[in-house]
Amino acid sequence: MTIEEFTKLKYGMFVHFGLFSKLARGEWVMNREQLSVDEMKELAKTFNPVKFNANEICQLAVASGMKYIVFTTMHHDGFRLFDTKLSTHNSMQSCGRDLVAEMIDACRKHNLKIGLYHSLNNWFDQPDAVAALENPADYEKFIDATFARLKELVEKYKPFDIMWYDGWWPFDPAGWQAERMNAELRAIHPGLIFNGRNGLPGDFGTPEQHLNAPVPYRPWEACVTLNNSWGYVEGDDSWKHPLEVSNMLKTCVQNGGNLLLNVGPRGDGSIPEETIEIMQKVGSWLKNGGEEALTDCEPMPLTPTIASPKDRGDWDTQADFSCSGNNLFIIMKYHPAFYTLTGLKGNVRKITCMGQNIPFTQNGGKLSFTIPEDIRVTFRPTFKVECDAPPAIYRCGGLRVPNVEHPRYDPGEPDIEY
Ligand code: GLC
Repeated sequence: MTIEEFTKLKYGMFVHFGLFSKLARGEWVMNREQLSVDEMKELAKTFNPVKFNANEICQLAVASGMKYIVFTTMHHDGFRLFDTKLSTHNSMQSCGRDLVAEMIDACRKHNLKIGLYHSLNNWFDQPDAVAALENPADYEKFIDATFARLKELVEKYKPFDIMWYDGWWPFDPAGWQAERMNAELRAIHPGLIFNGRNGLPGDFGTPEQHLNAPVPYRPWEACVTLNNSWGYVEGDDSWKHPLEVSNMLKTCVQNGGNLLLNVGPRGDGSIPEETIEIMQKVGSWLKNGGEEALTDCEPMPLTPTIASPKDRGDWDTQADFSCSGNNLFIIMKYHPAFYTLTGLKGNVRKITCMGQNIPFTQNGGKLSFTIPEDIRVTFRPTFKVECDAPPAIYRCGGLRVPNVEHPRYDPGEPDIEY
């Protein structure tokens, strides 16, 4: 895959699964609770995720409108979810399953691109990163083992699309020999693209739990949890609302990025019901017009101070917007029966939603229409408003937009972020 193809994928699923999932206290549980290698070996004997079904995971991704999956082949706890000659601490030994192979097969079947997450560092293998830090001989062994692991993984599962490194503590790119790492993996599999988590910039940046594009700009993918956890945590019920998820996706796409949204299956491999519900809801919106509203869409900047000719957006309590060419997309937040948009610049030719023509009235910048009942009940009804010129929405604190340049009604920069 090329990086251009990657930036067009827009929406993907991160799957955090591993031995840690059994403990249901997150993927850092080994470190946080100082569980020993022997304790983890004992736990590995019981690893048997009878409900892990790669096909169902892919079906959920497709139903949610996602185009790729990034799967944890080995997290920081060092347990491999694949068949390997280099360690006995793996799913093949525990339950005779190569979950990476299962995942890759299912992705191909469902036409999803595949990224392999792999932690460079791990807390299981010896000599570990701490030893490598303290002792040059151990450092050599540690680096050799890391390279051997990565090369085996790429050799065994190529072709796949994305090498998603993580866990680069405690070294910098020189310490990881990151240039050589990328070069040697690319020599085995020339089509691979790399994230930047071996310390190099990589082909794309990976903002975590926030949506900022990297500065200076380069391709990016924000990875975000659906509740508060990557690996499954029992009792974490801080689920994001589907509205928030759809807005995160919109923010990423309008700023050139991808959204990689996380799923943390339980220890038996089953997916939490809340995850399924939220993802399906967002998928229904994408199918009903959301995807079109996010395709080749342009940002609609709204400067907080002086109105500038670049201003194209405004805030609205009932809807969010995107635009593309002469089309404005009104993405409803709620389920009103009737909607009025003011401050619209441009003459409306036609409004459609879910294959229906929507009758409307326009009086200057004021556009109104009734929302048919069958559309109203869907999640985030999205209306395509075809105009005679690139649309913009512009209001001000008064009832009339002044002809002279003026500050916004609330010219202060926001002082807190959340
Ligand atoms: C971090 C964490 C890890 C999580 C990842 C997701 O590096 O260490 O637990 O897998 O980011 O981006």
